Amino acid sequence: MAALSGIKVLLVIGGGIAAYKSCELIRLIRKNGGSVTCVLTEGGSHFVTPMTLAALSENPVHTTLWDLRNEVEMGHIQLSREADLVVVCPATANMLAKMAAGIADDLATTLLLATDKPVMAVPAMNVRMWSHAAVQANVARLREAGVIVLDPDEGPMACGEYGAGRLPEPPAIWNAIASWAGQDTGAETREREPQGGLGGPIASLIPRGGRKAAPQPETLLAQKGGAAAAAAEEDRGALYHFDGAPLAGRHVLVTAGPTHEPIDPVRYIANRSSGKQGFAIAAAAAAAGARVTLVAGPVELATPPGVTRIDVQTARDMAAAVRESLPADIAIMAAAVADWRTRDMAESKMKKRGDAPPALELAENPDILATLGASDARPGLLIGFAAETDDVVENAQAKRARKKADWIIANDVSGGVGRSVMGGAHNTIHLVTEEGVEDWPQMPKEEVAMRLVERIALALENDDD
Ligand code: CTP
Repeated sequence: MAALSGIKVLLVIGGGIAAYKSCELIRLIRKNGGSVTCVLTEGGSHFVTPMTLAALSENPVHTTLWDLRNEVEMGHIQLSREADLVVVCPATANMLAKMAAGIADDLATTLLLATDKPVMAVPAMNVRMWSHAAVQANVARLREAGVIVLDPDEGPMACGEYGAGRLPEPPAIWNAIASWAGQDTGAETREREPQGGLGGPIASLIPRGGRKAAPQPETLLAQKGGAAAAAAEEDRGALYHFDGAPLAGRHVLVTAGPTHEPIDPVRYIANRSSGKQGFAIAAAAAAAGARVTLVAGPVELATPPGVTRIDVQTARDMAAAVRESLPADIAIMAAAVADWRTRDMAESKMKKRGDAPPALELAENPDILATLGASDARPGLLIGFAAETDDVVENAQAKRARKKADWIIANDVSGGVGRSVMGGAHNTIHLVTEEGVEDWPQMPKEEVAMRLVERIALALENDDD
């Protein structure tokens, strides 16, 4: 990963056992060219010491609102505004509640209220606490206010229980910071607002002058062609705005991008998929409150905020990662999986010998969608894509039946190099369901994602009734 030069992180360390992982996070931020100033809460100081944090960050550690010297040299307002990004890690249930309610009773919560910078919270708590309605409501409120709240990991916990609530591993947190900063795309700068907008959690509950109002889905859906495209470019964050968190509590599994099937150590079989549509769907599902696992083939795209990403190369790796990520409530298989791989990969680079080019013997790859469709662990809603060049809808209908998918999103991928849906920013799709076929107009891939997530939320709502 290239250095993310100069990002300044104000790291607020809450009072949980996972506080020790913030030490590793400091190391990663600094290793990648950033700087860190730590604010340690009273609770956090039971798990890590100011001395450790000062040594790792090579900066003074701030612990109290009532430090006269600091109020002269650097008050909490200045502290909160010097950073590019405020990261709360670990964010305990108590900290999230205070942030959502606007309570300012110590240095950490006061500066979180005073900041005009983007805030990212990385929750860590017991599984029951995390799934508690009060915590989920606070998380939804914070997300709505523009705070980037990452999803916790699932697994065994320090308290002996198992489930969602573990602090994500520091490299995943660093990835979220880097992708917020637009590092992977290079095109976006740190000045860009994160998903949903401005900084301080509560301050941003109150719209400020200059902030663009997030367009409502109805408005978005009414836009067509050029207008929608322009909106996608200018207001990418707002495109993923939902009222509330319609997919809260759901696990969404998405595959995206191509797969690379090695021929020898330097060559591979691939296709033109960019992964943009799948990444947009993962981003939209996370913005809708879902826990999202994104199994990504080799693509140069930033991980959307709040999404757990598993990178794979080959179809067989992708199949294994999908299997290991189950169970899921919804699976959206947007990857352009290579249908074939070479039967045997050459161990060394193949050389030109004589006149005859080498013959490649191919073997069929596993069909991930069809395997999922027929498995006991089949997600409640299984959605596939159909990349077609001829008889688009007919082929998609046949694919829906053959692969036992609920919905197929069919798109015409003819058009040649540079003009195809593959790699482009727009998509024209046909949604093939049991009820029939819907033809959607051409729109940016972000808008397809947003609209699809709305359809999914509606379908689940109707199912629950
Ligand atoms: N798919 C999959 N595993 C494969 C091939 C495809 O999971 N080995 C999934 C894709 O992610 C997509 C759907 O199946 O959701 C259809 O992909 P597509 O390439 O259109 O269909 P194929 O099965 O490859 O059929 P064909 O190439 O014959 O059209």
